[in-house]
Amino acid sequence: MLSALLAKVRWTQRHLLGIRDLSRDEILAVLSVASALKQEKDLGAPLKGRRLLAFFSEASTRTKLSFGIAARALGLEVIDLSPSGSSLTKGETLKDTALTIESMGVRFAVVRHSASGAPHFISRTVRGAVINAGDGANEHPSQALLDLLTMQEALGRTSGLKIALVGDITHSRVARSNLWAHAKLGNEVTLVGPPTLVPREAAALGARITYDLDAVLPEADVVMMLRLQLERQQAGLFPSTMEYHRFWGLTRERFARLKKGAIVMHPGPMNRGLEISAEAADSDRSVILQQVANGVFVRMAVLLLLDQAR
Ligand code: NCD
Repeated sequence: MLSALLAKVRWTQRHLLGIRDLSRDEILAVLSVASALKQEKDLGAPLKGRRLLAFFSEASTRTKLSFGIAARALGLEVIDLSPSGSSLTKGETLKDTALTIESMGVRFAVVRHSASGAPHFISRTVRGAVINAGDGANEHPSQALLDLLTMQEALGRTSGLKIALVGDITHSRVARSNLWAHAKLGNEVTLVGPPTLVPREAAALGARITYDLDAVLPEADVVMMLRLQLERQQAGLFPSTMEYHRFWGLTRERFARLKKGAIVMHPGPMNRGLEISAEAADSDRSVILQQVANGVFVRMAVLLLLDQAR
């Protein structure tokens, strides 16, 4: 059933660099392959004999583990070339990193980097498929895809939804990939946060902007809370963490005002008590752990589709 589906879907991408590059059909292809993978009992290591290299020059828990589990489930050999403990922390240029990756003869390179565009740069040197696992504040495509799969499962659809993206939009590659995805699928996005953390340009992709979380909550089908990315901020972008929580946090009181049937999402890692309260994070409306679980299947689907396109 899986191979019949793979033969049928439309997918032409040689790399996964951003949702920006995908068509609506390609986004839906990932979701249907990922759903089929969830049903599949015996996969039979279809990518055995090939290598996947993980290059994460920024911290990661979920994304890196999830790509590793997905790769091994398909029979890939996983090599970790992440900088801590390697000579890549010693001032090597991105060009040399790309050449190093290339000389290892890999089918896939999964890249996370603090500079926007780093995976795109590497994809010009490396013959294997490059997957962007987060580049600066630009994109994190596999995260948006797992978010969509989770919405599909929880709400039964991936279009015609009202979605609130709440928090530090400026520094969030998750927000940017979600914005592209929802623009292509026809979902209504509202960006909410302090004015200093919600860039006006984001409206170019059709999103509404508001600074008033209370006004948005009773309408939204999906409330996606984003981490306050303190490591990427200069001082002074919001008054204090206490005030941030009061105005833009999903507090217990606010959580009680969600629309019936609405779901709460968060890409992780969460700052509990800051952007999200424990009551909201641990409630039965929360699909945060389902997002993590779906990450593995979405990444398997991406690996299979990219492999097939080569
Ligand atoms: C995100 C990331 O690193 O872009 N986390 C993730 O991959 N699940 C979001 C974040 O760091 O806040």
